[in-house]
Amino acid sequence: MSEKTIALVTGANKGIGYEIAAGLGARGWKVGVGARDDARREEAVEKLRADGVDAFGVPLDVTDDASVTAAARLLEEQGGLDVLVNNAGVTGGLPQNPTEVSVETMREAVEVNVFGVVRTINAMLPLLRRSSSPRIVNMSSSVGSLARQTATDDPLAVGPLSVAYSPSKTYLNAVTIQYAKELRDTDILINLGCPGFVATDLNGFRGVRTPEEGARIAITLATLPDDGPTGGYFEDAGPIPW
Ligand SMILES: NC(=O)c1ccc[n+]([C@@H]2O[C@H](COP(=O)([O-])OP(=O)(O)OC[C@H]3O[C@@H](n4cnc5c(N)ncnc54)[C@H](OP(=O)(O)O)[C@@H]3O)[C@@H](O)[C@H]2O)c1
Repeated sequence: MSEKTIALVTGANKGIGYEIAAGLGARGWKVGVGARDDARREEAVEKLRADGVDAFGVPLDVTDDASVTAAARLLEEQGGLDVLVNNAGVTGGLPQNPTEVSVETMREAVEVNVFGVVRTINAMLPLLRRSSSPRIVNMSSSVGSLARQTATDDPLAVGPLSVAYSPSKTYLNAVTIQYAKELRDTDILINLGCPGFVATDLNGFRGVRTPEEGARIAITLATLPDDGPTGGYFEDAGPIPW
């Protein structure tokens, strides 16, 4: 293993993922910038390096087995992996009314937001198991909280109808609980982070928080002490009701 802590952030070429990479890099960590587009990835790596981050590019499409397998090999060459932040995500376009949505839109959200996370975790697990303080952070959303979705009679209180995106995050939450159960007797802490409503491409920059603010919870969960929580669902203010 490398002496430096090594992290991989998926979807790190822009938005919240870029700021997670910048924040972990500012701690002196070596950071893999996972991104599917070559030009956007290299631009992000160059920007991070210009700010003093020990960044390297990791070609990565989380929907593609071969791409994820190749990314794991690259990480191994770079010295291993201590912290995986599954940040890559898509909405499939909003709003998504249940009576009008296409199955393709629902499939796209699940492919990236759920299956992409499972594929990436399972490919990276052999590396994470070799780390002394392995952490996995899955970027969820508070719209994935069924408790919040049902807490009010106002149908738009937690944002626009999103029958593909919101349930994909609920699914991710449920999947993360299963991982936490299986990994309970290992050193791996796996948690869900919610960034708040952040101004990024994902929502046409309508969010009210900055990407840097949105990155905070992932950085907190990526840097948990060894006796930190696992299987939790958190925003900056604390645990979110499921
Ligand atoms: N913004 C919010 O208010 C908000 C709220 C709650 C949760 N979140 C979550 O936070 C995470 C980051 O979102 P964001 O707001 O920063 O969105 P963003 O600016 O749209 O960034 C999304 C990132 O995911 C990447 N990505 C999408 N599909 C991918 C794939 N198949 N393989 C690899 N990378 C892929 C994108 O790459 P390309 O540039 O190549 O498309 C991009 O780097 C997401 O999981 C999102 O659901 C965001």
